[in-house]
Amino acid sequence: MYHLDGRVALVTGGAVGIGRGIATRLAQEGCDIAIVDLDFAGAQETAAMVQASGRRALALAVDVADGAAVAAGVAQVRATLGPVDIAVNNAAITGVGRVVDLEPAAWRRMFAINTDSVFHVAQAVLPDMIARRGGKIVNIASWFGKIGKPSYAAYSASKAAVIAFTQSLAAEVAPLGINVNAVCPGSIVGTRMREDADRMSREQGLPTARERAHLIPLGRVGEPDDIARVVAFLASDEAAYMTGQAINVTGGLWMN
Ligand SMILES: NC(=O)c1ccc[n+]([C@@H]2O[C@H](COP(=O)([O-])OP(=O)(O)OC[C@H]3O[C@@H](n4cnc5c(N)ncnc54)[C@H](O)[C@@H]3O)[C@@H](O)[C@H]2O)c1
Repeated sequence: MYHLDGRVALVTGGAVGIGRGIATRLAQEGCDIAIVDLDFAGAQETAAMVQASGRRALALAVDVADGAAVAAGVAQVRATLGPVDIAVNNAAITGVGRVVDLEPAAWRRMFAINTDSVFHVAQAVLPDMIARRGGKIVNIASWFGKIGKPSYAAYSASKAAVIAFTQSLAAEVAPLGINVNAVCPGSIVGTRMREDADRMSREQGLPTARERAHLIPLGRVGEPDDIARVVAFLASDEAAYMTGQAINVTGGLWMN
């Protein structure tokens, strides 16, 4: 549908959840896929799904918070599949905690995984994109990067930083033919992060994501493919005139 045939896409956090949805959707659009994740078994499962759809796949065990490991991983992708045309920064963690109680190490870890990773991947893939005067970077942020919530200061701040980084980088590389955009998911089920969040909600006597679905204007929670379809669009030439955007995919839950 988006004519991505033969492009090489790297997806971080592609072992499960939204990342797996993005990897399999981009494969259906014709991309060869590198799945970069700490969860190597899950990354291999996603790779098998990609191969079943007729595309090449490479699973790599990489901690995206580690810049040297990311650089080595991208070099391996280059050697195996070719230079990266599309980089999707999706790996992240979440966590709750009031600011007054938050351990500095937990704050740092949130930024290392959610924010530093986006910088590391961009640094690793940009030289080839600049040399070829083209490429797409899609960063998965969150609607929590646009609005703060109690107990989510670290996560929200890490995602707000991803949005600001997206805008700055987009302006920097626009003259080089490279598009950089962000996607801000709302309440997406079928992911490990959501299962953990729902478990914490239940423990505190709070409603789960599905139980809050009536608050979403479109009347349902999101699925990984709701995000993946928008990523595929942003990775395509259909979105050639879009850069520096942070697109909400929330069923109308957040509109700014
Ligand atoms: N699920 C939601 O409702 C929701 C809402 C808004 C934003 N998001 C964002 O969407 C993205 C995907 O979320 P998800 O719900 O699919 O999460 P998930 O927990 O199901 O998947 C995250 C993946 O990232 C990997 N990962 C974590 N730390 C890593 C590290 N240091 N190095 C390499 N890989 C690492 C995990 O192993 C996992 O495979 C995240 O950026 C998240 O913040 C999710």
